Amino acid sequence: MSGITLGDRPSPQGPGGIGLFLRRWLANPLQMGSVVPSSPALGKKVAALVARGPEEVVVELGAGTGAISRALLAGGVPPERLVVVEIVPEMARHLSRALPGVTVIEGDAFALAEALPAALHGRIGTAICGIPLVLLPIARQRAFVDAVEAVAPGRGFLLYTYCVTSPLPWKALGLTARREAFTPLNLPPASVWRYRRDDAARHATPVQG
Ligand SMILES: C[S@@+](CC[C@H](N)C(=O)[O-])C[C@H]1O[C@@H](n2cnc3c(N)ncnc32)[C@H](O)[C@@H]1O
Repeated sequence: MSGITLGDRPSPQGPGGIGLFLRRWLANPLQMGSVVPSSPALGKKVAALVARGPEEVVVELGAGTGAISRALLAGGVPPERLVVVEIVPEMARHLSRALPGVTVIEGDAFALAEALPAALHGRIGTAICGIPLVLLPIARQRAFVDAVEAVAPGRGFLLYTYCVTSPLPWKALGLTARREAFTPLNLPPASVWRYRRDDAARHATPVQG
């Protein structure tokens, strides 16, 4: 089941929703990928990397309890230009209470073309991924790349991670990769990577033989 809501009123569980985060981690550690929400310091690093045209939105995939979303708002993304996607219904409900004015979509980031309203396709300035892609097999990672590409062609995405090296096998996925930021002020310390489809690799003539 999926749905779209507009954030309306402050969360009764406090802005962080740490209890909810921990409960979800206990229920499904692979889906959560982390025991605690991202830190404000990491949120700031992500927010600093966001670019958006006047008619474009920022899309955050795997918003959890909204730690990164709040940093994006604090960093200047207007609530009406922020769209967050979260697969866990309880978390999506928490987000719509905690993030007034933000569009909250309860849905699957791997089916982004269906989850996002058609009016937003091709109007994404930056896509940000909080889903623990590193834990997934390459076929699922490829499916994620394709899902983002379907709605934000050529834009790529930002991915924050605790990995020291790239969490994605970018060459095998036909991507370019760049580590854009690092902060020790997160548990654990985290980096922000930017991935884009590598057009040169896509258009290269296959080597025969
Ligand atoms: C590591 S947590 C990040 C939460 C938050 N953004 C933060 O930084 O604290 C990963 C989040 O991705 C969500 N998630 C996992 N798979 C997803 C999917 N296929 N579509 C949307 N959200 C997903 C999880 O439910 C969880 O809330």
